Amino acid sequence: MKIATILGTRPEIIKMAPIIDEISKRGIDQIVLHTGQHYDKEMSDNFFRDLEIPAPNYNIHVGSGTHGKQTGLMMNGIEEVLLKEKPDIVLVQGDTNAVLAGALVASKLHIAIGHVEAGLRSFDMTMPEEVNRRVADVTSTMYFIPTEKSAINLLAEGFSRKNMFITGNTVVDACFRHLEIAQKRGFEEESLRNLDIENMNNILTLTMHRAENVDVEERVTNIIGALKELSNLNIIFPIHPRTKHMLENFGLFDELNNLDHVNIVKPIGYLDFLLLTSKSTLILTDSGGLQEEAITLDVPALTLRYNTERPETVTAGGNILVGSDKDVILKNVMKILNDESFANKMKNAPNPYGQGNAAKNTVDAICRYYGDGLLDIEAPDEVMISFNRKMLSINEDISVKEFEEKENALIHLVFDGDKIVFPRDNLNINGMIIAYDKYQN
Ligand code: UD1
Ligand code: UDP
Repeated sequence: MKIATILGTRPEIIKMAPIIDEISKRGIDQIVLHTGQHYDKEMSDNFFRDLEIPAPNYNIHVGSGTHGKQTGLMMNGIEEVLLKEKPDIVLVQGDTNAVLAGALVASKLHIAIGHVEAGLRSFDMTMPEEVNRRVADVTSTMYFIPTEKSAINLLAEGFSRKNMFITGNTVVDACFRHLEIAQKRGFEEESLRNLDIENMNNILTLTMHRAENVDVEERVTNIIGALKELSNLNIIFPIHPRTKHMLENFGLFDELNNLDHVNIVKPIGYLDFLLLTSKSTLILTDSGGLQEEAITLDVPALTLRYNTERPETVTAGGNILVGSDKDVILKNVMKILNDESFANKMKNAPNPYGQGNAAKNTVDAICRYYGDGLLDIEAPDEVMISFNRKMLSINEDISVKEFEEKENALIHLVFDGDKIVFPRDNLNINGMIIAYDKYQN
């Protein structure tokens, strides 16, 4: 079996590293293709170093550009590599343009696609990430889904549960594996060592790069307005290149950089960032990955967005959406600082993203599918499949698995009153309504 991983940006390197590592430990043939969307050392090479994975086999160096141009260049380069390498499955992760390009190219070549971090939805089609993740889900063969909540998004859109694997999120694998290494090593980046973070209190770590925030002057101005008033905190701001460009364009960079309590530093390596997060009193961010890491490391997070595709972090109590509203940001920061029981509740929020074995679960599932010949993409024999779907009200004690075995069926959706629940194998469906397919053989 040969597995090809396509990645292109900082978070994809971080979240695919545990899977790349797991594949290589099992001696499975693999190639890694970097699109080159992120190219600065601080946004790319340093992560291969910190996460101890080999440099990619291919880099197609697409660089920065408009979405159409960037995605088009990626598709061209990815197609060449996939035609040459002929992998059995292509893995894409998350929601960047690499995911869109990789999924489109692989599906046209009839190569199976595994979407890592499938099923997330912000329901906001103005976000490029929402378009990318939806396209990837439509074209995928295997879905590696972090939580049941995300799986329900896919079930509600009609995807087959058969190909869904609730794996947890590899961000937890990476965090668990590297935090201790980071703690033993201490800060490496000179800018952080100079700040003497080890002896600092009240650290607020800030990251933002989301287009809908940093490309909009009014939103950036509101957020900076809040930061100005937080002089009782030490704000550490590893700045994303997009954000630096935009703050400079708006003429806001110097104003922010000159504030005594705000320390703007270049994007920092993964180990330094993990250590910084773990020492923070709170996180202020619009990053997807950081919402997940904060709850993994028991650090309260305030998210600079009005929606999130990670609602589990909010319902668990570890994350609050504050948008770009200055007063809402200030009110919540103050509450975390001054109300110990409120802060503790946020810190103790249960982590919805698993125990750190997402990479193992993912590679186990791929090996099983390969062994069963399920990575071969063929036109279906069963053309009348949509007419086989039925609904049924269950009035006996029976689990999902027992029903499926008895009826030779696959349960897609389970309605418990007005709630959709995920059809876990051992779920007792007595009193619930199910939607299911009968197998024909
Ligand atoms: C991309 C992803 C986003 C992800 C983020 C992770 C898409 C549509 N967006 O956004 O989902 O959350 O990565 O960080 O795929 N730049 C540099 N050096 C670099 C890379 C970028 O200076 O190494 C600058 C360029 O001016 C570029 C801008 O940053 O135009 C934005 O980069 P781009 O890759 O287009 O989007 P991100 O904002 O990084
Ligand atoms: N990160 C890092 N250094 C930084 C900022 C972030 O290592 O200076 C890591 C962080 O630990 C997280 C990931 O980058 O795992 C998040 O990436 P980003 O916010 O760029 O993208 P998103 O997750 O929003 O797609």
